[in-house]
Amino acid sequence: MKISASFLSSSNIPIDLKKLNETDVDYIHVDVMDGKFVPNKTMPFSEMKNIYKYTNKRLDVHLMVENPKKYIPLYAELNTEFITFHMEVMDDIEENLELIKSYGIKCGLAIKPNTPVKSLVPYLPLLDLILVMGVEPGKGGQSFILETEDKIKETKSLINSYHLGILISVDGGIDQATKNYCQECDILTSGSYIIDGKSFQEQIDGLR
Ligand code: DX5
Ligand code: ZN
Repeated sequence: MKISASFLSSSNIPIDLKKLNETDVDYIHVDVMDGKFVPNKTMPFSEMKNIYKYTNKRLDVHLMVENPKKYIPLYAELNTEFITFHMEVMDDIEENLELIKSYGIKCGLAIKPNTPVKSLVPYLPLLDLILVMGVEPGKGGQSFILETEDKIKETKSLINSYHLGILISVDGGIDQATKNYCQECDILTSGSYIIDGKSFQEQIDGLR
């Protein structure tokens, strides 16, 4: 199982990123919020881009924004493995997926807890990753919604029925107990469980 660490709940991002460099975490999950798609807003890219200098890990970017087109070229400049945006955006989904691919970066679509898995069908041939939200997007430290287990299973069956190799990631409320509901996933994204722990490596080991 691959692990992506979210630093959304960190009170000292440079220090926590440096601590994560010392672990075997696979990716740094970068939550980007515009204050429109979700009520909260993260720092502007001009400030954030300096912070990424503290990490030597590949980035897994999660855009919780209304207009992904504006953010994709910025995050494509960094050491980025995946850029994922939300299925629920009003923007042209296909165009944004193609834009991500044009930078040679893997593209993903995220679904909120109330968005049906079936709505992903038209985009499946373009996708490298599906991000299933385990909580309503917008903030860290929320409890995992148990229905997510069925959504993950449904996502896996859908991918298999089309004989595709799309990765599944889950994000929100993941800890040592809730990871057991996510066995069909390829990547577990976890924020507060890792960041609030005494030893980041021990927390990560608990998720694998
Ligand atoms: C929620 C974010 C998540 C969040 C995960 O909107 O997309 O990435 O930071 O944090 P935890 O693991 O604390 O739910
Ligand atoms: Zn996220």
